[in-house]
This record gives sequence, C-alpha cells and structure tokens, in this order.
Amino acid sequence: MKAVVFESYGALDGLKLAEIGKPALTDDGVLVRVRASAVNFGNVAHVRGEPLVGRLWSGLRGPNNPVPGGDFAGVVEAVGANVTQFEAGAEVFGDVSDHGFGAFAKYLCAPASTMARKPANVTFGEAAASAQSGLVALQGLRDKGGIQPGQKVLVVGASGGNGTFAVQIAKAFGAEVTGVCGTGNVDLVRSIGADHVIDYTKEDFTQGEQRYDLIFATAGNTPILAYRRALSSHGTYVSAGGEMAQVFQGLLLGPLVSAFGSKRMTSLYAQQSRQDLVTLREMFEAGQVTTVIDRSYPLAEAAEALRYYDEGHARGKIVITMEA
Ligand SMILES: NC(=O)c1ccc[n+]([C@@H]2O[C@H](COP(=O)([O-])OP(=O)(O)OC[C@H]3O[C@@H](n4cnc5c(N)ncnc54)[C@H](OP(=O)(O)O)[C@@H]3O)[C@@H](O)[C@H]2O)c1
Repeated sequence: MKAVVFESYGALDGLKLAEIGKPALTDDGVLVRVRASAVNFGNVAHVRGEPLVGRLWSGLRGPNNPVPGGDFAGVVEAVGANVTQFEAGAEVFGDVSDHGFGAFAKYLCAPASTMARKPANVTFGEAAASAQSGLVALQGLRDKGGIQPGQKVLVVGASGGNGTFAVQIAKAFGAEVTGVCGTGNVDLVRSIGADHVIDYTKEDFTQGEQRYDLIFATAGNTPILAYRRALSSHGTYVSAGGEMAQVFQGLLLGPLVSAFGSKRMTSLYAQQSRQDLVTLREMFEAGQVTTVIDRSYPLAEAAEALRYYDEGHARGKIVITMEA
C-alpha cells in the first residue's frame, strides 16, 4: 500500500511516499481503508522527534512506526474476531496518535476504542480533521473549563484548528464567545459564530475592562498572570497550547497561582475517547459544528502539508487526502 514514511527523526523533508506492506488485522483491531487524514502539532513533533521526551513513546533511537499521522476517516475493510462495534463497510473517524500513529497511509489497523462512526453529513476530510481538534476543544471547555450557558468565554487562537472548534463548541454550550485572532481572520471567526472578535495585532485583551468566566488558550504567549487578570472572580483558565513558554507556565505555575484566590488556572492534556467522538458526531449532525478547512494536500505532499502547518498561520484545519 502507499504510505508516507520517515526513517529517522529530523527535518520534515525526510517524509517520503513509499510502498509498504498493508497492516495485519489483529483480533482486537479494525482495519480501515483511510480516505483522509489531517495535520496536528503532534505530527510535526513526531517527525522531528521533539521535544526529546516524546521519544519515550515514539521510539528512543528512531521512530517505532515509520508511518506518522493521527487523525483519520475512512471505511472499515475488516474487523478482528473480538470487535463487535463495527462491520465491514462502516464509515468511521478517529485518532491513532495514542496508538502508535500510522494514519498517513492507505490502510491502518487500530483498536475499536480509537474510532466512532463518522458523522453522516460531512466529508471524510471534514471528519478526519475534527478527531483531535474537536476533542481538544470539547475536553478543554467542558471537562477542564466546566463551561456553562451564558458564561463569557474567550478563545485565544480562534482561527486555528483547535480554536475554530472551540468557538463553535462554546456557542453550542450557550456561551457568549469572544475570539482572539489576527486581522486576516476576523471575518472567519465571526462567521463561525463568535459574538465578539479581538484582533490581537491591534488590541491586547489582557489590558481591557472585560473579564471572562472561561479562557481557552491554544495559541500565543501571554503570561499566566495576565490571563489571571482577565478572568472574572471565579473564572477558569485552560491552557491548551500555544508557544512553549505559555504551555509550561500553565503546567508549572498553574497549580501555584490557583492556590491563591478563587480563580482556577488549569492545563489540558486531551485524552482519546470514543464517547467524545460520538458527542462530536452528534454536534456535526445537529449542525452545531463544521470543520473549517484551510487547505487539502494529496498524501504524496504530506511533507508540504506539515511545513505549511508549521508556519503557524493555518486558518482552521489542513487535510491530507488519499486517492479514492
Ligand atoms: N492540550 C492538548 O491536549 C493538545 C492537543 C493537541 C494540540 N495541542 C496544542 O495546540 C496547539 C496547536 O493548536 P492548533 O493546531 O489549533 O494551531 P494552529 O492551527 O497552528 O493555529 C494557527 C492559528 O493561530 C493563530 N494565532 C497565532 N498566534 C496567535 C495569537 N497570539 N493570538 C491569537 N491567535 C494566534 C494564527 O492566526 P494568525 O495567522 O492571524 O497569526 C492561526 O490562525 C499547539 O500548541 C499544541 O501543542 C494541545
């Protein structure tokens, strides 16, 4: 089968299209003919082997699995003897990032727990590109943030992959949403439902009068104390990404800052969850979310897709398509 592979950690140029063996079906596995995948931060980190600690999971000396890729959507080709949830021909979507990657390929074999039936009303590309970012947004807002109807929610990085889902999911939970993005993306963020948009190149949200009940941050580098200032008296900050300094402040200083006063400063590490994929599917089918796609690349141009993502200015998601 055709797959994109890399032999050693390093530059994104190391990704090459190759002909490799089709994965074997295991008793607990689902063999999926992949129709689309998508790009996430973890794919770039995986190929580069950075940060180094990630190699504890992906392979110390070199990649355990030469095929990167987490998000996928496709059609079930066959199921293992112990799998009861799916049957050949079922359309599914999911994420194999926590199961050794392998989605930048014509076929993958993964446990049933990594996938759910695909929403009926979206394309394979739209479904694939929602699997990780949709769960990051859902788990960040609902589980870490405890989002409630009527709350004032700020999404920092509202035009990116995670952020476009966060804006729509926060709206679906009945929040009043403010999106923070750059000048060129103001119309996009408004079009997906944000009630207010702040252009970060013109205005610093931490300096304004407005206070937020929940801040979901997935881009930029704002000091944690500035986020704290922008919270209402019992507000919650969820650090879900951004530049390393922002991520580390959330992780290391969050618990300390939370110890003083009533504001909570938390960090998200999104978890694989079939139940959450089902929730996401229901939101698609109810018309509450759509996937914003910036660009689509054929499998052979996966390296170019990752390079474009790595520039940091994607508007929504970047999809990788397999030929039909
Ligand atoms: N917590 C978890 O479990 C988890 C899971 C997966 C990923 N992540 C994290 O999520 C992050 C990547 O998210 P992503 O894929 O959504 O990113 P992305 O799609 O690459 O985000 C790009 C967008 O961010 C905007 N942006 C850049 N700087 C900004 C700023 N200062 N303020 C507001 N918007 C800004 C860009 O707009 P402009 O072009 O206008 O600048 C662009 O539209 C990474 O940090 C990754 O570590 C976390």
